[in-house]
Amino acid sequence: MSATTPPPVPATPSADSGSYDSTLIENRVFPPRPAKELGFSAWHIGSLDEYRRLHARSVSDPDGFWREEAKNLDWFTPFTTVCTWNPPDARWFDGGTLNACYNCVDRHVAAGHGNATALIWEGEPVGPKGHEVMRLTYGELQNRAARAASALKAMGVKKGDVVTIYMPMIPELAVAMLACARIGAAHSVIFGGFASTAISERVSDADSRIIITADGGYRRGEVVPLLKNVDEAVASLHEQGHAVRDVLVVRRIGAGDAGFATGQARAGGTRYHWWHDTAAVASPDCPCAPVQSEDMLFLLYTSGSTGKPKGIVHTTAGYLAFTQMSARLTFNLIPDAGQVFWCTADIGWVTGHSYVLYGILANRVPTLMYEGAPNYPAIDGRPGQGERFWDIIARHKVTQFYTAPTAIRTFMKWGDDLPARFDLSSLRVLGSVGEPINPEAWMWYHTHIGGGGPTGGGRPIVDTYWQTETGGHVVTPLPGATPTKPGSCTLPMLGIDAAVVNEQGEVMPPNKGGLFAIRKPWPGMLRGVFGNRERFISNYWGRLKDPATGTPWYFSADGARTDADGYIWMMGRVDDVIKVSGHLLGTMEVESALVSHPAVAEAAVVGVPHAVKGNAICAFVTLKPAWLKTNGRAADEALKKELAAHVAKEVGALARPDTVRFAEGLPKTRSGKIMRRLLRDVAAGVEKITQDTTTLEDFSVVAKLRGDDE
Ligand code: WT7
Repeated sequence: MSATTPPPVPATPSADSGSYDSTLIENRVFPPRPAKELGFSAWHIGSLDEYRRLHARSVSDPDGFWREEAKNLDWFTPFTTVCTWNPPDARWFDGGTLNACYNCVDRHVAAGHGNATALIWEGEPVGPKGHEVMRLTYGELQNRAARAASALKAMGVKKGDVVTIYMPMIPELAVAMLACARIGAAHSVIFGGFASTAISERVSDADSRIIITADGGYRRGEVVPLLKNVDEAVASLHEQGHAVRDVLVVRRIGAGDAGFATGQARAGGTRYHWWHDTAAVASPDCPCAPVQSEDMLFLLYTSGSTGKPKGIVHTTAGYLAFTQMSARLTFNLIPDAGQVFWCTADIGWVTGHSYVLYGILANRVPTLMYEGAPNYPAIDGRPGQGERFWDIIARHKVTQFYTAPTAIRTFMKWGDDLPARFDLSSLRVLGSVGEPINPEAWMWYHTHIGGGGPTGGGRPIVDTYWQTETGGHVVTPLPGATPTKPGSCTLPMLGIDAAVVNEQGEVMPPNKGGLFAIRKPWPGMLRGVFGNRERFISNYWGRLKDPATGTPWYFSADGARTDADGYIWMMGRVDDVIKVSGHLLGTMEVESALVSHPAVAEAAVVGVPHAVKGNAICAFVTLKPAWLKTNGRAADEALKKELAAHVAKEVGALARPDTVRFAEGLPKTRSGKIMRRLLRDVAAGVEKITQDTTTLEDFSVVAKLRGDDE
């Protein structure tokens, strides 16, 4: 076999190919089940053969394939070209104009579905009157989006502007995003768990002049001080010479006037406005603005291997075409069929953009949004019992449920009896996203939520692999077509020409680790890193190329292998970012936060395997003896705690190190690079240091670190 030819793929996966060991869960094959058995009228794609035929066509004739697929969108002006590929720049559906809000909302109203449910929202607090639930029809969503859009316009927001959104999971968040799309402004949503420094960094990078936020949000019974964080960010931005013009505030907590009245200018001249005085009451007469296919729909910041987050640029038509298709096929979405789709991700991450909002609404299926935590409060009033998700599924008759392996592993820990107390019979498809799902967690999901047995039955699990940069699923089973194997995200999405290759671009034979690459453009791909062309090229397009033609391939930064059936198994990141509870974190971001503490001289951060979070953060820190001395401090537990809290304050709670270890020096190569792999081994407690340490500057450093144990 020539090294560049992919291994032949057998028509039907066989459990006993490759290094089959029947005692391993990951070698089991779970066949798809007939649609009728699962309560679907039909599968969109009903067999592996059909998938293979369509996939082959989608990559051999992408223009023909996507021309058809684009018919699922409403266009104001039809496009003239499907794809123009000048690597690394792709343009999709040029010549066309459309609007994302129109495609997710208005067209459904125009087609007579104004009274159909679009959004089901549930707040976290449970009061004496029971649950706080809001249902919005497409008609109501249209009205709200239009009013908010009018208000944004009145505040001077124009087509092409970037509007920053930092909000809790409340309906106004969805409305705010749709309102931006409605007038052709791009949104840049910042996850509500980030701290003020993270906000100011992103606002300034995006050159954004308006922030939409709330007076607070609820999380596990506590109030998250969103407005306070925004105030801090705005103040520090003013100091840096970046004026935020307007801040629009939703009243969620309702604790008084928060110190301002609508229209009032505060620090540095920034005007503050209440949502209920403006966005909620402005004129609903604000039609959807036609935008070009390649106009930016949103910016979303993601962590990279430098300290500075990258603003990933997604444009309108390609992103919508890709998310509506992947949502439809992966979850078998069917309108008017009683489906309720629930993705538990926060909208602040790409999963929420694509599969709480755009992909689901474009398919006219109701989407459920839940504000809070899975363990608050318990339905019988006892806190922290962990029933909330199952209770929500039972009460709202959720049909498709989409969550993260971290959550699944947490549920495993909380006990099998919790989900067993609820009627989960409405469920049809179970999704997983954000990190590799270990076979044990897959089996638990399949058994306890899916109602399946050791070799089959139950609801299909779709383990969806993708990234902020890919816009939507790029490797995933399709529930009616793909036999699944616990722990494998299986086969490429339609339109995705995926391969596992080595640094030379040669396709790896089965069961040999390599890099996950995509060899052709796809509509949902990122169009750039905002304001940083160099980073766009070096991160994604400068590493892999077609050995025959030299054409760049998309580099995912994920390690992977295929098995004898051509199934893809993701093996984790190969760069300096770590996945902690499904959230991507740059080790450099955490390191910069650590060295901003006056006690710290140097810091190195690595991931350590963790049973629930996937990875935990371990920070190695060298201290400034002079600072310790002047401040009467010591390298003790209290300082470790203080440093961990400092990171949480600087970046956000999700970045708080699990372990802080003091070291006298950090191991470096002769060229001064910190030897992270070695630190990973030390952190994971690997007995024998397996690395080649001959390039180490100071061997004693290694011994010190290993002996440093608490
Ligand atoms: C990284 C992307 C996926 C959208 C939300 C996260 C990891 C994601 C899987 C999966 C194995 C996965 C990868 C990827 N990842 N899904 N099903 N199996 N790994 O988007 O924050 O941009 O993170 O998440 O490492 O590169 P993101």
